[in-house]
Amino acid sequence: MSTPHTLAHPLAGQRVVVMGGSSGIGEATAAFCAADGAEVIITGRGQDRLDASDRAALDAFFAGSGTVDHLIVALSGGKGAGPFAELDLADLAAGFDGKFWPQVQVLQAALPALRRDGSVTLVTAASARAAIPGTAGLAAINGALEALIPPLAVELAPLRINAVAPGIVDTPWWDDKPAEQRQAIFEDIAAATPVGRVGHPEDIARALHMLAANGFVTGIVLEASGGASLSTKR
Ligand SMILES: NC(=O)c1ccc[n+]([C@@H]2O[C@H](COP(=O)([O-])OP(=O)(O)OC[C@H]3O[C@@H](n4cnc5c(N)ncnc54)[C@H](OP(=O)(O)O)[C@@H]3O)[C@@H](O)[C@H]2O)c1
Repeated sequence: MSTPHTLAHPLAGQRVVVMGGSSGIGEATAAFCAADGAEVIITGRGQDRLDASDRAALDAFFAGSGTVDHLIVALSGGKGAGPFAELDLADLAAGFDGKFWPQVQVLQAALPALRRDGSVTLVTAASARAAIPGTAGLAAINGALEALIPPLAVELAPLRINAVAPGIVDTPWWDDKPAEQRQAIFEDIAAATPVGRVGHPEDIARALHMLAANGFVTGIVLEASGGASLSTKR
């Protein structure tokens, strides 16, 4: 255990690396952990040019990071959505290349730097289980990541391994859609979600912070979706 922490500030003095911390969910998580008193290091392709698909760059990063108490992997790819009959397999492969392989590679590269009883939290997606038409590709990518969580929690113990599966969250991830279309999607989803809204990045940040901070939780996927998967209105 590094610096002592308190109930009020469980991550105070701890080193937290947020991969994909330059935008959206990762950015909000970095801010939340910093407000808790953590020493936060963020990366993103644009921020300091650390691309999670570059293993040599990752190894160099973790060789210089010092001991990492908590790793949060919030980076995203984005491809792989669409009706299955028309799903371009090259797009699906690009989806795995953009999210599945980088998250796996980050986790492998980080192992030598991680505190023995620290934590890793991946960001997956509720689409892994939501059974929404047009999301089979995204479900495959995120479901593959979620399948890693239980065996790794046992294999890598006492390191804790968890994931947060967000529902729809208003972040720059949606910026490739015209504003009107984006708004229509958000309104549709909000209407079919028990909490009546889409997520804010801070909603997911709180869930990620909790999993990093709670030393008694490992091997789980925590869904933070406003209850979207429970809804029967869709
Ligand atoms: N927003 C949603 O509705 C939603 C729903 C379910 C799940 N999620 C998941 O939540 C995670 C975060 O998404 P977000 O909405 O916060 O997206 P975002 O705002 O687009 O942020 C994505 C982050 O990932 C980084 N990144 C992407 N590819 C990278 C790579 N190869 N190497 C290093 N960094 C990389 C980006 O860095 P640069 O900007 O520097 O490239 C950025 O910091 C993703 O895994 C996404 O699939 C999002």
